[in-house]
Amino acid sequence: MPTLTPNAGSRKLESMPSYTDVVKDRQPSTAAGPQPTKIETRGLNFFYGERQALFDISLAIPERSVMAFIGPSGCGKSTFLRTLNRMNDIVEGSRHTGEVLLEGVDIYAPQIDVVALRKRVGMVFQKSTPFPKSIFDNIAYGPKVAGERDRRKLTSIVESSLQRAGLWEEVKDRMNSSALALSGGQQQRLCIARALATSPDVLLMDEPASALDPASTARVEDLIFELKENYTIVIVTHNMQQAARISDSTAFFYQGQLIEVGRTRELFTKPKEKQTEDYITGRFG
Ligand SMILES: Nc1ncnc2c1ncn2[C@@H]1O[C@H](COP(=O)(O)OP(=O)(O)OP(=O)(O)O)[C@@H](O)[C@H]1O
Ligand SMILES: [Mg+2]
Repeated sequence: MPTLTPNAGSRKLESMPSYTDVVKDRQPSTAAGPQPTKIETRGLNFFYGERQALFDISLAIPERSVMAFIGPSGCGKSTFLRTLNRMNDIVEGSRHTGEVLLEGVDIYAPQIDVVALRKRVGMVFQKSTPFPKSIFDNIAYGPKVAGERDRRKLTSIVESSLQRAGLWEEVKDRMNSSALALSGGQQQRLCIARALATSPDVLLMDEPASALDPASTARVEDLIFELKENYTIVIVTHNMQQAARISDSTAFFYQGQLIEVGRTRELFTKPKEKQTEDYITGRFG
């Protein structure tokens, strides 16, 4: 049986079977940092029906770091992000070719349990989407669906998730109030706590702060910065200052293609490609 974590990934693919045929060698095609690779795509194409939205994307995402996806509207950032936990599976008529590897295992292999995959690769959306339930039930939802019934364990998961999301102090006395009564910034941190409750090791965030005021945005940015110690984070953002502030590496997409990826500081100060330069200097997009 081959080891599933040849690059010292943080955890084993517990609930995903260790089929030899889905384990690939792990030479990153487009390295963006010194850390081991957590997720890698190889020659990924993606289609909505007849329309191709992603073209031949090969990208290595380093673990325990923040990678930002930038690029003009419609260039495929969200589509690409959603291929990383198979969220696109629910779009009828969509298909892909190429590979997405999580710690070297192809997540589109037929043996993969998609529910287990999405627990490990959690997602936070642009618009916070609390369930119309109590704060407690919002966070306990994922672990409950996963079969956790022990009330004390659930209470402990809820508390630790809220603490990690930096929301505990604000809500600890109102766990039974509706999550919908929270402010926008609090709701977004609640959604981050909800994503953390299933103990993922990757967090995909699609413009998580774009609907927030500056103070709430700063809180979410601080949080992302803290979380990267333990999680691999991929964030889509239109805000280039934000990308520069919080990400270690940045990938620039244009018309469904990955144009350039590198250390954030280098990409913003010395872009290699003309299209990247035009975008970051505000000439288009
Ligand atoms: N469900 C869908 N069905 C068909 N086409 C889609 C679907 N979702 C996205 N697309 C198309 O795929 C392309 C990429 O869209 P995507 O949402 O990934 O871009 P984006 O870079 O995230 O844009 P934005 O910055 O505006 O969020 C666009 O042409 C879009 O119209
Ligand atoms: Mg998008």
